[in-house]
Formats: sequence, structure tokens, C-alpha cells
Amino acid sequence: DRSIKIAPSILAADFANFGAECAAIEAQGADWVHVDVMDGHFVPNITFGPAMCAAIRPHIKTVMDVHLMIAPVDPYIDAFAEAGADIITAHVEAGPHIHRTLQAIRGAGAKAGVALNPGTPAAAVEDLMDMVDLICVMTVNPGFGGQKFIDMTAKIRALRAMIGDRPIHIEIDGGVDPTTAPLVAAAGADVLVAGSAVFRGGSVSDPAPYGANMRAI
Ligand code: DX5
Ligand code: ZN
Repeated sequence: DRSIKIAPSILAADFANFGAECAAIEAQGADWVHVDVMDGHFVPNITFGPAMCAAIRPHIKTVMDVHLMIAPVDPYIDAFAEAGADIITAHVEAGPHIHRTLQAIRGAGAKAGVALNPGTPAAAVEDLMDMVDLICVMTVNPGFGGQKFIDMTAKIRALRAMIGDRPIHIEIDGGVDPTTAPLVAAAGADVLVAGSAVFRGGSVSDPAPYGANMRAI
């Protein structure tokens, strides 16, 4: 009976008001704040980098959960750690040396996460169990918010069995809404990222719908 955390993705927030949006989702009950970094190379979209993470950090009291959709990762780890990321998640597909990347993330003082694209099997992280604090299961192909959920419940179950009693979070990212959240939670997920399902219907000046949306998930 593991408690479920909601991590709104600010990819769906007002990009001109990230500070206020972060404060608003926390006031409305967000457990973590999920920050999507995209490079236009590993994924076909560009968001922002470590300077933006540093700028929003003072507006986040809880966990800043930074999801790196970039390749290469290693040259930027220290910058994201210095920006105040509590968790830095790198994709297993982003390079040939994910083990080294995870060592470097922990070495920089952050918690280490590894993300799996929908086409990547659970077995890809089998030898990383003692290197990670979080496994992010992508339930969309990364790059954009608002995409349709891809069912990865079999992979989530396999990962939960692989994890055993280790203190590793399983985070789900993509298409999480009130319909899909119970499916992934039942399969063993404990951190739910949600962008459009949290931010829809609200705004930085009227954030109450964010809270209602999170409670619906
Ligand atoms: C996708 C990002 C997600 C995205 C989720 O590449 O990693 O965090 O913001 O957005 P929704 O919840 O709208 O699918
Ligand atoms: Zn993400």
C-alpha cells in the first residue's frame, strides 16, 4: 500500500510564468515538480536547459524532478545538479554508457533516475538496480505533451518484480489522466507525471482547477 505521488509536468504550464506556475501547483497539492528538458536531437522538440532550472528552483519547495531528453547527457550533469535538481533522470537510449552516467549523477549529489522509451524492454535496466533511485517508464514517445497513452503495464509489473524490496520509485510519464492512472498504479507505479491532465482548465491566475485535476488523478 504505497502512496502515490503526483508530479505535474511544467511542459503544459505557461512558459512565460514558470515561477508562479510552480508555486501554484505546489499550493494545489503537487508532490513533486517534473521538469522536461529537450534538446531537439534526442527528441524532436526543444524546451530549455540548466539556466531555466536554476531560475525556477527558488519557486519550488518540494522535489525538482528533472527529466533529461538530451544526448549526450554527461557534459551537462554538473550544470543540472548545480541548478538544484533533486533527481536527474537520463534515458537508457541516450548513449552507450548509461552506467557511467548514473554514477556521475550520484557523484554530483543528485538522485539518479533512468528512463525507458516505450520500445525499450525492462531488461535494459536489469543490471542498474543498485545504481538508480527511480525508473521512469515512458507511456508516450518522448518529445511532446498531450499524446495518447501507450499501455506499458506489463513492463511496469516486470520492473516492480525486478526491484524487489529496493527503495526505487517507478515513475510513469505520458498520457496519465484519471482513466490511465489507476491502471499504472495497480501495476506498481508510485510517481505519476501528468502535464495536460493537471494544467487543463486552469491558468496561473486561476489555479484552482489544477488542484481539482490532481485530485481526480
Ligand atoms: C513527454 C514528457 C512528459 C509530458 C507529459 O516527452 O516527458 O513529461 O510533459 O505530458 P502529458 O501528461 O500531457 O502526456
Ligand atoms: Zn517527462
